[in-house]
Amino acid sequence: MGVLPIFNGKWMVVARTCSEEQTEALGRAVGERLFPGAVLLLEGALGAGKSVFARGVARALGISGPVRSPTFTILNVLEGRWPFYHFDLYRLDDETALLELGMEEYLDGEGVCAVEWADKFSALSTVPSLSIRIVRVDEHCREIMLAAEGLEYKNVCAALLPKGELTGASAGD
Ligand SMILES: Nc1ncnc2c1ncn2[C@@H]1O[C@H](COP(=O)(O)OP(=O)(O)OP(=O)(O)O)[C@@H](O)[C@H]1O
Ligand SMILES: [Mg+2]
Repeated sequence: MGVLPIFNGKWMVVARTCSEEQTEALGRAVGERLFPGAVLLLEGALGAGKSVFARGVARALGISGPVRSPTFTILNVLEGRWPFYHFDLYRLDDETALLELGMEEYLDGEGVCAVEWADKFSALSTVPSLSIRIVRVDEHCREIMLAAEGLEYKNVCAALLPKGELTGASAGD
């Protein structure tokens, strides 16, 4: 697994994994640095590895049971060090449904939120968060871009790097 810092107006790290286990390990490494109220926005096509990444996060929170996409239920609540709110918005089509779900309270709450298919809803893009974009390179490899929206998340990205540093500066940091 390789990890590189890149700077594109935001704090970003790009990683390449070449197995499900490596993606889960990356999720776990991120999960270990999260805090109550953290929000992870996951983007990527069907089968990209969003749930695998979310499972790693859940493991870091001390959750040992199955972690699968809540495609039909939209939300799974799992109990870990903090509550883990695992969303899958694939089957949701409008923002009213997001509001009805009480999404805002979860995002502002004390648990960790991981939201699959977050990019379907532009309203979510303004939420302070770590966005994780997973692109399938081939059967076994994935390119995973982590972009921090806010200083707390910058530190999560930085901790993934060998020297624990991100260079460059963005407005407001
Ligand atoms: N490097 C890799 N990282 C993650 N998953 C991988 C990797 N290589 C192969 N895979 C496979 O890709 C699939 C990823 O499935 P996963 O359920 O995590 O996708 P998803 O993005 O959550 O899809 P969906 O949108 O349907 O929920 C698994 O079958 C996994 O074994
Ligand atoms: Mg999934």
